[in-house]
Amino acid sequence: MNGSFIARLCAAISMMLVVCASAVAEEAEYVIRFSHVVAPNTPKGRAADLFAKLVNERLAGKVRVEVYPNSELYDDDTILPTLLLNSNEHFAVMAAPSLSKFLQFSEMLQVFDLPFLFRNVEDVHKVTESPLVEEIIAPLEEKGFKALAFWDNGMKEFSVKADKPLRVVPDDFQGKRFRIQNSNVHAAMIEDLGGMPERLPFRVVYMSLNKGIVDGQENAWSNIYSQKFHTVQHWITVSDHSYLGYLVVVSNPFWKGLPEDIRGQLEAMLREATLANQQYAAEEAISDRKKIEEQAGGAKIVELTAEERAQWKQATQEVEKRFAGEIGPELLQRIHSLLDH
Ligand code: SIN
Repeated sequence: MNGSFIARLCAAISMMLVVCASAVAEEAEYVIRFSHVVAPNTPKGRAADLFAKLVNERLAGKVRVEVYPNSELYDDDTILPTLLLNSNEHFAVMAAPSLSKFLQFSEMLQVFDLPFLFRNVEDVHKVTESPLVEEIIAPLEEKGFKALAFWDNGMKEFSVKADKPLRVVPDDFQGKRFRIQNSNVHAAMIEDLGGMPERLPFRVVYMSLNKGIVDGQENAWSNIYSQKFHTVQHWITVSDHSYLGYLVVVSNPFWKGLPEDIRGQLEAMLREATLANQQYAAEEAISDRKKIEEQAGGAKIVELTAEERAQWKQATQEVEKRFAGEIGPELLQRIHSLLDH
């Protein structure tokens, strides 16, 4: 054996040791991939980034959170089944899909899609911060999800490309197609308003509006602004007809398998991110509306009169009755008494 052979052997062995060591380090770390479909500069995007920053600073070397915005990793259709299938002891996919996207896993969550039930985001918080929430999330836990936090976006507004804004129902909706999320409640609402619902994933909404595949859509201000929907629509009606919010979820077996102290720290950091999310959502509902208002050539914003709003409410009042069986009549009754109406 000559010296150069021994040197090469030692180099190869040390290279193998480095590779093994980094594999062990990788395995010893918990990795969470946070996948979402919206832009980073939205209430959900910013809260996900904050959560990752807190975890990566405070639990460096133990837990790493990577954020994938804009449907880069998974889209609306694939995220929830993938989250259940792709997680293991050391690796998990985390997501915060809109509440509408849990339809195949929870009929109860349809309550958050109902038109004109929640007058504002504060009404929603009365429910999500009440003991009712445990009942609402229980079926999801049975299906393998750990529901970690409710996050806000805000109240939704309608937009349309048309000669005139959406004001009079059903006349202004008739003959028009509206993009909706995969929600039976939203579909029923659009039909009762006089329009035609079209279920499409979030990532294709701009293209569908631009190409005229649909005439309009409904969304929160930060999504309208960050996705530039206002640049391919003529009118936005301030309808505040229903709520857009999210549930942060991860695989239940992964969550339960974490060491208790790490789980506790992650829960505390999620609480921080949730408080920040509520603040971002409240701020962006005002600032993104203002940016749209100030942008020349974009959609014009119109307010409903009290009378027009009452007509929208009346037109959609049967939706709640139709879904009461699936949501649970008792839950609905308790929500009404909590909201005092
Ligand atoms: C989201 O805010 O996550 C997307 C909502 C939508 O699909 O409209």
